[in-house]
Amino acid sequence: APCMAGRDFLSNLDMSSAELRTVLDTAASMKRGEWRNVKPLLGLSLAMVFEKASLRTRTTFDVGMYQLGGHAITLSNQEIGLGTRERVSDVARNLERWVDGVMGRVYLQQTLTELAEHAGIPVINGLSDMLHPVQLLADYQTIEEELGAAAGKRVVYIGDGNNLANSHIHMGMLTGSSVTVVTPLGFEPNGAVLQEALRQGADVTLTNDLSAIDGADVLYTDVWISMGQEAEADRRRKAFQGYQVTPTMLDRLAPHGIFLHCLPAHYGEETVPEATEHPKSRVFDQAENRLHAQKALLYHVMGGMKPRW
Ligand code: CP
Ligand code: NVA
Repeated sequence: APCMAGRDFLSNLDMSSAELRTVLDTAASMKRGEWRNVKPLLGLSLAMVFEKASLRTRTTFDVGMYQLGGHAITLSNQEIGLGTRERVSDVARNLERWVDGVMGRVYLQQTLTELAEHAGIPVINGLSDMLHPVQLLADYQTIEEELGAAAGKRVVYIGDGNNLANSHIHMGMLTGSSVTVVTPLGFEPNGAVLQEALRQGADVTLTNDLSAIDGADVLYTDVWISMGQEAEADRRRKAFQGYQVTPTMLDRLAPHGIFLHCLPAHYGEETVPEATEHPKSRVFDQAENRLHAQKALLYHVMGGMKPRW
């Protein structure tokens, strides 16, 4: 049965460790094809609101809804003008009359909170400047496939302390993995996210020291210049010198260690094509798992809803 029925998913912390376990088990089962003839979202629609570009998020939510018997509609911000053409609360109060869920890719986390507050249907975070929780579901599905249980595994995130870094810290809190975030000075992850993780006793470490990579089970990186930060490109490229993930860096992982990247990659910056093509790379399995993990999430959030028409 759906374990998060009707709830919002704005952060990985919107689910308990037990609910994460259930969602990842469902994702694995869906990947094995066991849900092929089940249409739990028959007659349900998901509105997808994009303030930013996307390949993976858009395709996987759309295909995922279709495969579960539902339907997805893409709304670009050029069309709907969230907060400019009309206020966010009015968008929310329109969407809730027609569709059964909303997925939003936005700049401000606050926009999602506001949508969720005013729409009486589940709202899912498809990336904000603060967090990227659906990405981390796919990432931990991939980690489990390759390495077994995440608890105690050493996950090293290197690069910018951005939305991905923050969500990695959340996953350390939920799974008991050991999360090390390696950034240059001044590019640390969100202070409140870190404080809360430490307060709860999570195994989370911040450092500027690249030796954290040695023996890691997972090395993860993301772009140095996120969507919306284009004006800071030069300053950022300079600050991140030395943090590029190369095949030489991958040799420092544990023998069974894997390399992950949420993609898109800015080759020549945070990594190089040779790392993507390296035997330790699992980046395309990770991208595939976006589909399975989000289908599982959609089922657990929307699976109990009745078509309203
Ligand atoms: N990783 C990820 O979210 O990809 P897109 O930006 O293409 O959706
Ligand atoms: N940190 C990146 C992730 C893209 C999937 C961004 O926000 O642009």
